[in-house]
Amino acid sequence: MEEQRENWGSKIGFILAMAGNSVGLGNFWRFPYQAAKYGGGAFMIPYVMALILIGIPLMLVEWMMGRVGGRYGHGTVGFMIYIQSRDKLKPRKAIILGSICGMIVIGVTLLVNSYYNHLIGWTLGYAFLSATGGYSDMTVTTAQFFANYVQNPVYVFTFWIITVTILGLAVTRGIEKGIESWAKIMMPVLYIFGFVLIYKTLTIGAPIKPDWSAIKGLDYLWTPRWGDLSFKGTLAAAGQIFFTLSLGMGIIQNYASYLKQDDDIVTSAMTTIGLNEFAEVILGGSIAIPITYAFMGVKGLSSGVGLSFISLPNIFRIMDGGRALGTLWFMILFFAGFTSAIAMYNYLVTILEEGMGMAKKKASFFVFIGYIVVGLPVALEPIITKTAELAYFTELDNWVGTYLLVVMGLIEIIVAGWFMIDNPLIDINHGSFWKAPKWMYTVMIKFVTPAVIIVILTGSTISYINEGYFKAIPDFIAKTPVLIPWVNAARVVILAVFIIGFIGTYRSLKAVYGEEIVKNKVIIRK
Ligand code: ALA
Repeated sequence: MEEQRENWGSKIGFILAMAGNSVGLGNFWRFPYQAAKYGGGAFMIPYVMALILIGIPLMLVEWMMGRVGGRYGHGTVGFMIYIQSRDKLKPRKAIILGSICGMIVIGVTLLVNSYYNHLIGWTLGYAFLSATGGYSDMTVTTAQFFANYVQNPVYVFTFWIITVTILGLAVTRGIEKGIESWAKIMMPVLYIFGFVLIYKTLTIGAPIKPDWSAIKGLDYLWTPRWGDLSFKGTLAAAGQIFFTLSLGMGIIQNYASYLKQDDDIVTSAMTTIGLNEFAEVILGGSIAIPITYAFMGVKGLSSGVGLSFISLPNIFRIMDGGRALGTLWFMILFFAGFTSAIAMYNYLVTILEEGMGMAKKKASFFVFIGYIVVGLPVALEPIITKTAELAYFTELDNWVGTYLLVVMGLIEIIVAGWFMIDNPLIDINHGSFWKAPKWMYTVMIKFVTPAVIIVILTGSTISYINEGYFKAIPDFIAKTPVLIPWVNAARVVILAVFIIGFIGTYRSLKAVYGEEIVKNKVIIRK
C-alpha cells in the first residue's frame, strides 16, 4: 500500500471541488420543493437546527476520517471505519463494521447515481429545450410535457449517455486534472448564473396579480412559522441536510483522503458548508420559490418534485427572456449535479483502483458500464409502463438516497465519539488555523449529534412504517399494480449490490489487514 496517492493541486481547487461535491441537485431541485412542501419558514427552523446539530459536527468528522484514511493509502469508507474502530472493537469486529459501511456506501454511490445521472441528463435536455423553445407550445401542459419527455427514449438516452460519458472522461483524468479542473470552471459559472437569475427574479415585481410577488415568496421562506412546525417537516429538513451536504455518502471522505496531512480541515470544511448553504438557501431559495410565487402564488409551490421541471417551465414560457433564463436555470442544475455525480463516480473508481489494483482508465470504464446497467431500469420504467410515476427511482431514493444516509451518519459519529482511541479533535485540528473547541467532541460528537440522529432515525423508521415502505407492496404504488414489479426490482437490485458490496469490502480489508485480523490485534499504524 505504499504507492503515491494523488493530491489536490491547489487549495482553491480542492475547496471548489468539495463545494461542487456538496452543491448539487439537492440545492436547486430538492431544497426548494422540500421547503415549499413543509411550509417555507416552518421548514427552515428544523433545517437550521439540523445544520448546527448534525451538519457541522458530521462534516468535520468526515473530513477527519478521510484525511486519516488517506494517510493509510485508503480513499474508501470500509477501510476508514475499520481503522478508526479497530482499537476499541478489535480487528475481528471492526472488519464486520467496516464491511457493513463499505456495503452501504457502495449501495449509495452506485444506486443514487443510477437515478441522479438521469436527473442530470434531464437538466441538460431541459437546458437544450429551453434554448430552442422546445416546451413553449401552450396547448401542452408542462406536466404533460414532462411525462412525454421521460417516455421519449431519444431525449432520455441521448442526454443521459452524454452525461455519463463526460463524467467518465473527467474522472479518468484524475483528481487534479479531471475533478479539480472541472470544479474550477463549473462552480464559479454556477454562482454567476445564480446571481443573474436572482437579479431577474427579485426585480420581476408582481406580473400576474398584485398579491403575488417575488418578495412575498421570500417572505414565505424566511418568516419563521413556529405554529406550522411538524415532525414530518423536521425529518425532511434533517434528511435534506444529509443529502445537500453529501453526508453519509462516503464522498466527502473520499475527497478528503486526497488532502495533504497538514492541510487545514476546520476552515476548509466550514468554507464548504458556507458555499453549500449559500448556494442552497440564497441561490436555490431566492430563485425557484420567489419566481413561482410571483407567477402562480402559494398554490404553485405545491407541485413537489415537479417544481423545477414542471412549474418553472410554465413560467419560463410566458415571461420576458424566459428562454434565456430557463437555459441558465437548467445549466445551473446541470453544473451542480455534475460536480456531485463526479464524486460518486470517483468513489467507485477508487474502490476498483485500491481494492483490485485496477488502472484508473480501466476502472472508469467499468464504472461507466456499471452506471449504464443500473441506470437502465430508471430509463425504461416510464417508457414501458407509459406512466411518469418513477416507482423504481422513488424506491431507490427512499432507501439509498435518504434512509441509509442517516444510518451511515449514525455509525460514523458513534465511531468518532466512542470507538477511536484518540480524541478526534487532534486530527481535526491538526494543521487548522481555527481550532474546533473542546466541546465539539465532549458535547457534540459524543452526545448531542448521535442523540439527534437517533431521534431522526427512529422518527424516519416510524414514518416509513406508516407510509407502507416496509410492506411487500408499498402504499405509494398500491393503486398502480403495473408498478409493483419495478419496486420489487429496485429491492432486488439493492439487495444484490449490498451482498456484492459486503463481500467485496470484506475481502479487500482482509487482503490488507489479514494478519491483524487473524491475531485480532492492531499491527499496522501510520
Ligand atoms: N450533495 C449533493 C446534492 O446536493 C449530492 O445533490
